[in-house]
Amino acid sequence: MERSHRPCPGWGSQCLALLSIVIITAQAAHKSEAGSDSSAALINHSSMLIQRLQELLQYGNSTDTTLRIRTASSDEVKVIQTHQLLLSLQSEIFEGLLANQSVVTLQEPADCAMLFEKFIRYFYCGEISIQLNQAIALHRLASKYHVSALQRGVTEYMKTHLASESSQGHVVSWYHYAVTMNDEILQESCLKFLAWNLSTVISSSEWATVSDNLMVSLLQRSDLVLQSELELFSAVEEWISKNNPNASIIERVLRSIRYPMIPPHHLFQIQKLSSLLATYSSFIQDLLFQAFQFHSSSPLHFAKYFDVNCSMFIPRNYLSSSWGSQWIINNPARDDRSLSFQTQLGPSNYDSSKKLTWNALFSPRWLPVSLRPVYSESVSSGSQSSRLEEGKPRLVMTSAMSGLDFAGVTFQKTVLVGVKRQHGKVFVKHVYNVHQSTDEVSDFLAHADLQKRTSEYLIDNSLHFHIIIKPIYHSLIRAK
Ligand SMILES: *[C@@H]1O[C@H](CO)[C@@H](O)[C@H](O)[C@H]1NC(C)=O
Ligand SMILES: *[C@@H]1O[C@H](CO)[C@@H](O)[C@H](O)[C@H]1NC(C)=O
Ligand SMILES: *[C@@H]1O[C@H](CO)[C@@H](O)[C@H](O)[C@H]1NC(C)=O
Ligand SMILES: *[C@@H]1O[C@H](CO)[C@@H](O)[C@H](O)[C@H]1NC(C)=O
Ligand SMILES: *[C@@H]1O[C@H](CO)[C@@H](O)[C@H](O)[C@H]1NC(C)=O
Ligand SMILES: *[C@@H]1O[C@H](CO)[C@@H](O)[C@H](O)[C@H]1NC(C)=O
Repeated sequence: MERSHRPCPGWGSQCLALLSIVIITAQAAHKSEAGSDSSAALINHSSMLIQRLQELLQYGNSTDTTLRIRTASSDEVKVIQTHQLLLSLQSEIFEGLLANQSVVTLQEPADCAMLFEKFIRYFYCGEISIQLNQAIALHRLASKYHVSALQRGVTEYMKTHLASESSQGHVVSWYHYAVTMNDEILQESCLKFLAWNLSTVISSSEWATVSDNLMVSLLQRSDLVLQSELELFSAVEEWISKNNPNASIIERVLRSIRYPMIPPHHLFQIQKLSSLLATYSSFIQDLLFQAFQFHSSSPLHFAKYFDVNCSMFIPRNYLSSSWGSQWIINNPARDDRSLSFQTQLGPSNYDSSKKLTWNALFSPRWLPVSLRPVYSESVSSGSQSSRLEEGKPRLVMTSAMSGLDFAGVTFQKTVLVGVKRQHGKVFVKHVYNVHQSTDEVSDFLAHADLQKRTSEYLIDNSLHFHIIIKPIYHSLIRAK
């Protein structure tokens, strides 16, 4: 039965519109009286209005709707007296539910039921406080009742709080939730965070809660940031022993480890000592054999006989010292800086004694030649320095050895940029892949604001880089 007194759903906005018309008219009247703008004023009681609306909910004055919240796990029913108009204003789901009934029973999971009063209060005042462990339940409520502004707000909160400190870790559960909700943007943000911060995740209790599908997706990525491939193998071993996935998942996961990136003495160790491989060695027999072959000859010779154009031979972002160097630049906006460091020639044991020396040059304000000021009498020093301010940060990495030229191998440089998060921990904010110079990417430190001490890129006024040198092998003409 239609309710005779049901107000039109647009009432709220009409009321607000009316309010502003009154103010504008009052201003207009005042203006014409005084004949000048100087005494015009805005009377603004919007916060009082919100206060009144909240009181309506708090004291239950003239409510017309009863919500009964039930959870499967208990007999308890939570009863909330509320106003159809305010719920309908922001939720078409509530509008539909309340169209012909004034008492509605809602079934909610326990964590959502716990937040229900808070959720309803949002309809009256448009604000809500949120904690890490409430994000999923709140997002679930906002999605179920189509409160799209709140849903977007919670998603934004999650994306900006991936790196927040929490005792259990929350990003893995947020990822799993994003999958069930089909929220690809949140999924990708979570995946990136887990990939770039893998060492921390591996050593937390969160690691055991990673689902089969998430593990498979993570292991396919070449941008994982961690100490070494061996660290990843041990972590996967631990995950398998805690989760007991089925054999096809174990095979998939074990075959995603990049064995050629592990030195042979460690390969011997895992082959002989890993209790997991004692059972499942048949899954990776061929890969271990191939890895030993890789270590026994130069990678370029190896590439004549085997296909090296596959993920197995692509290094991930290893932090251990043989792959690159950390570089902390204090007061980076001041002037150009340089760093020399050594890396291994490559992961193959055949090259283990060979080292490469690299020079890195960081310029806080670099300008391409075409934009540089011409040093002539006519150009004042003032305009020169203002041109210099326009320059962009640039990092160039070159080999110190002249004539470093190996057919079939290019050295990819990866620059990790760290930023500070709570409790002094460093979190990887960006990963840039270049051949030689960050000119190759358009967005290198684009929003870093290195001049500002408050820049989120500065940790105690220092910029944190980690440069990784990765040999990438190309398949040569194959010997048949
Ligand atoms: C009215 O006041 C509130 C805070 O009390 C403020 O958020 C709002 O912007 C003000 N409105 C105008 C039009 O200034
Ligand atoms: C709501 O009711 C309470 C007491 O029941 C009263 O004090 C209060 O002024 C009322 N508020 C409004 C907005 O009518
Ligand atoms: C409300 O109306 C809808 C259709 O408009 C109907 O399906 C539903 O059963 C009605 N509910 C009640 C409680 O009458
Ligand atoms: C193994 O588990 C995955 C999901 O975790 C499932 O998709 C797959 O069908 C299972 N395979 C077998 C052989 O049971
Ligand atoms: C390497 O593999 C990728 C895709 O698997 C392919 O697009 C590319 O052309 C290959 N490169 C060479 C040099 O074989
Ligand atoms: C992120 O990862 C870095 C290393 O890559 C680690 O030092 C840091 O503790 C991690 N941060 C958080 C918030 O987990």
